Amino acid sequence: MTATASPIDSDAALGTPLLSVEGLTIDLPGHPGQRGLVEDVSFDLHRKRSLALIGESGCGKSLTSMAILGLLPPGLPVRAGSVRFDGVDLLDCDERDLRRVRGGPVGIVFQEPMSSLNPTMTVGDQIAEARRIHLGERKATALRAAEALLDRVGIPNARQRIRSYPHELSGGMQQRVMIAAAIACDPKLVIADEPTTALDVTIQAEILELLRDLRRDLDLAVLLVTHDLGVVADFCDDVVVMYAGHVVERTSVRGLFYEPRHPYSSALLAAVPQAGQPRTRLTVIPGRVPPAGRFPAGCRFQPRCEHALPDQCARPQPEAELSGGHRTRCGRVAAGAVTLKGVPRG
Ligand SMILES: Nc1ncnc2c1ncn2[C@@H]1O[C@H](COP(=O)(O)OP(=O)(O)OP(=O)(O)O)[C@@H](O)[C@H]1O
Ligand SMILES: [Mg+2]
Repeated sequence: MTATASPIDSDAALGTPLLSVEGLTIDLPGHPGQRGLVEDVSFDLHRKRSLALIGESGCGKSLTSMAILGLLPPGLPVRAGSVRFDGVDLLDCDERDLRRVRGGPVGIVFQEPMSSLNPTMTVGDQIAEARRIHLGERKATALRAAEALLDRVGIPNARQRIRSYPHELSGGMQQRVMIAAAIACDPKLVIADEPTTALDVTIQAEILELLRDLRRDLDLAVLLVTHDLGVVADFCDDVVVMYAGHVVERTSVRGLFYEPRHPYSSALLAAVPQAGQPRTRLTVIPGRVPPAGRFPAGCRFQPRCEHALPDQCARPQPEAELSGGHRTRCGRVAAGAVTLKGVPRG
């Protein structure tokens, strides 16, 4: 596996972030003010860049991305934080304002296209409706645009296909329709939560290729939620690693692969087979992510961490900034007491 993204860029050189999440904290229902489902999550995404949100199942990736657009399930309160998108704090917006953002300047692609597409409307009408609402187009113009969008995302016979209902399309084609809808109103940002997980491997590769082309052609920023480190290496510039509701590391893709600065990230990398390396036993991270409500105090990874020292790691671990904007939530790494292995360079 090779990391192909550019070297670490300093935040200053990249200018004001397009999306800036600061201290986002989501309470566990019934446990206000305690260790949150998502706690003190901060990261920046710059224009035209692609940022991966990674971590094992249950780490809070989807809650974080849903909170950005005010799409948290009912009963999950945001206790603290801000989500600035293009200068506006989305957490201060009411539902009407958020509807203008969703599907407009921010496009969304979910794992299951059928959960987002309306089964009772043709795909053409769904895309056209977004353009009528967000861009004020007339129906005929919006339908022509929908046809061009379906063509752009690689759907054959777009003129006929605009009259199809979602269930008449394969899973890969449905996901292409979702992507067409996400880019329909000239977004600056696309949030994609596991956009390829539900698809078979060849279709996954095609969808990623499509997202990569669109990102380049439309100058999009992309927030990509994924489990797949191969996708991160291929597609992304920057990475945020989440563990049990905390961000444990923030860096560039190169920083993560070659110089991980959190034991959890290093353990994730060790669990992935390396192309070109002799076959060795894969490391499995012992234990599992604690369920919500049972997060340990201090470092949440500590019970599974081979470098943990109980007294030190049970204390709160503030995020520390290392050189080049690389950030870790491991006090031992920040103090230089632990050296971690990344992927061999080559
Ligand atoms: N409505 C809810 N009420 C209570 N807890 C919830 C709710 N939704 C999610 N959670 C919990 O919040 C935690 C984070 O969930 P989230 O869906 O963000 O994880 P994820 O990182 O996206 O995982 P996956 O990779 O499996 O999609 C999990 O422990 C989950 O059980
Ligand atoms: Mg998820």
